[in-house]
Amino acid sequence: MKKLLTTLTLSALMALSVQAAQQQDHRSMLMKDMRIMLESMEQIQRGGLYSSSDEMKAGVKKLQGTLKSLEGDDVKWILPKDQKYAYQFAQKTASMLHLYSDDMVASIDAGRMDDALEDYNQLLKQCTSCHIRIRNW
Ligand code: HEC
Repeated sequence: MKKLLTTLTLSALMALSVQAAQQQDHRSMLMKDMRIMLESMEQIQRGGLYSSSDEMKAGVKKLQGTLKSLEGDDVKWILPKDQKYAYQFAQKTASMLHLYSDDMVASIDAGRMDDALEDYNQLLKQCTSCHIRIRNW
């Protein structure tokens, strides 16, 4: 009996740690995407400062490549569980990031750098508005 209990406890503990490891995996994957988002924003900014539209566009492409993880269910791993609005908010910011980054490419192609800069500001606003909310929640 004692042995059975030990085995049961052990397997319960193991199941728990597998779960924790999975959560950790998802979290670190999303955090990796966050760091790529930061790199993309830096690349866009550098491109803007050096007047390199190619570099700006490369940054946009990199940024858009990370948006899938904000749009999908995976984002729930890093959002507060008790906030049902958090998920909708994440999807909304992801679609805004899509919108303004598409607009940035259109502005660059049309030679409207002032509009591209405005798009950059709007992109950054999406990042900070989520970060501020998450910390307030
Ligand atoms: C929908 C919400 C949301 C949006 C939008 C968002 N983030 Fe995050 N970000 C988070 C959360 C949640 C964390 C983890 C915060 C924590 O646990 O301290 C995070 C963390 C980060 C980190 C730290 C990563 C690390 O290694 O710890 C960086 C860098 C970052 N975000 C960059 C960005 C950039 C750049 C953008 C915009 C292009 C962005 N984020 C948009 C939610 C968001």
